[in-house]
Amino acid sequence: MARQIGIDLGSANTLVYLKDAGIILNAPTVISIDKNTGKDLCIGANAKKMLGKTPSNIKVSRPIAEGVINDMDDTTLFISRLLEKAELVSFFSRPDAYVCVPIKSTEVERRALQTAVFEAGTRNVNLVREPLAAAVGAGLRVLSARGCMIVDIGAGTTECAVISRGDLVVSRSQKIAGANLDRAIMNYFYNERRIEIGELTAERLKIKLAVANQKINRGEAQVLGRNLKNGMVIAGVATSKEIYYAIKPTLASIVHQIKITLEATPPELTSDVHSSGIVLTGGGALIPGIAEYISAELKMKVSIAPKPLESVCIGIGKMLESDGELNKILYKD
Ligand SMILES: Nc1ncnc2c1ncn2[C@@H]1O[C@H](COP(=O)(O)OP(=O)(O)OP(=O)(O)O)[C@@H](O)[C@H]1O
Ligand SMILES: [Mg+2]
Repeated sequence: MARQIGIDLGSANTLVYLKDAGIILNAPTVISIDKNTGKDLCIGANAKKMLGKTPSNIKVSRPIAEGVINDMDDTTLFISRLLEKAELVSFFSRPDAYVCVPIKSTEVERRALQTAVFEAGTRNVNLVREPLAAAVGAGLRVLSARGCMIVDIGAGTTECAVISRGDLVVSRSQKIAGANLDRAIMNYFYNERRIEIGELTAERLKIKLAVANQKINRGEAQVLGRNLKNGMVIAGVATSKEIYYAIKPTLASIVHQIKITLEATPPELTSDVHSSGIVLTGGGALIPGIAEYISAELKMKVSIAPKPLESVCIGIGKMLESDGELNKILYKD
C-alpha cells in the first residue's frame, strides 16, 4: 500500500506528516534558483537566508503567497525537492498526499495546488480544508454538536472558522496576517525613523519584540538599515513599544475579522463559542499578549493552541491516523 503523507503548504512554512511516523519535515517555503540554468540551488532555511541578498542571476522565490500558489514551477520544484530530501518519492514509490487548502481558494487555485503536488511525485492528491485540520490539531472537539471556533493567524492569511459536527458552519479568510505585521514594521521605520529595513529584519524584530498589549515590555533590539537621508548603513535600537505601535492597526483588523465571523454565526453556536472560547493558532498566536488582547476586545475567552506553528500538520496527521469519524471528515468537499 502507498504511504500516506499530509502537507501543510504555508506561505511561510511547509510541514510534512508521514502516517505512522509523525511530522518529518518543517521548512520555510522558499526556494532559490539559478536564473541562467533554471536549476534550483537550495530550499528551506538556506534559501530564506538568501532573501534580499542575491546577485542578479539568482532568484529567491516564495512560491506560495496568501496561502495559494504564486508560481507554479517554483512550487512544484520546491515540493519535489522537499519530498526527495525525506526520501518520500522515488521512481518506485509515490505517496498519496493530503494537502491543506485555504477555505476561500478558487477552483483554479485548488486545481493548481493539486497539479503541483502531483507533479512533485505523489500519486493521489486530496485536498483538506485548512481550518478543520487546524482545529483538530489544536485539540478542538470538531465532531461534537457544540460549536467551537478556531482562528489561524498564518503569514499570508488569517482564517476564522466556527465548526460543529465535523463541518465548517461559518468561515472567513482575510489576507491580513504575519507578513502584514512585518510590512507594518517596515513602514513604521520608513516613515517614523527614516530608516529602510528589509523583510527579514522586520520579521526578526516582530519575533523578538512584538506584543499585543502595551503593558508587556520585551525590551529592545539592535536594528540595521539604510539611512534615507544619506543612503548609508545605520545601526539603531528598536523598542518593544515602537513595534507595538507599528503593528496595532494590523492586529485591530484581525480582531475585526473575528468579530464579523461571530456576527455571521447562528445564535445557538455563538453561545457555544462564548462558553468554550476561541482558540488561536498559526505563528501569529505566538505574539505575547494576543489572547488577552482579543479576549478584552471581544469579551470572550481566548486561548492558544499547544503548538501553533504545527497545528495544521498535526491535524492532518490525526485525521490520517484515525480509523473512525475523524478520518471521514478528510474526504468531505
Ligand atoms: N514567535 C513569533 N511571534 C510572532 N510571529 C511569529 C512568531 N513565530 C513565527 N511568527 C510568524 O508567523 C508566521 C508563520 O506562521 P505559520 O507557519 O502559521 O504561517 P503559514 O502557515 O506558513 O502561512 P499561511 O497559513 O498564511 O499560508 C510568519 O509571519 C512568522 O513571522
Ligand atoms: Mg498556515
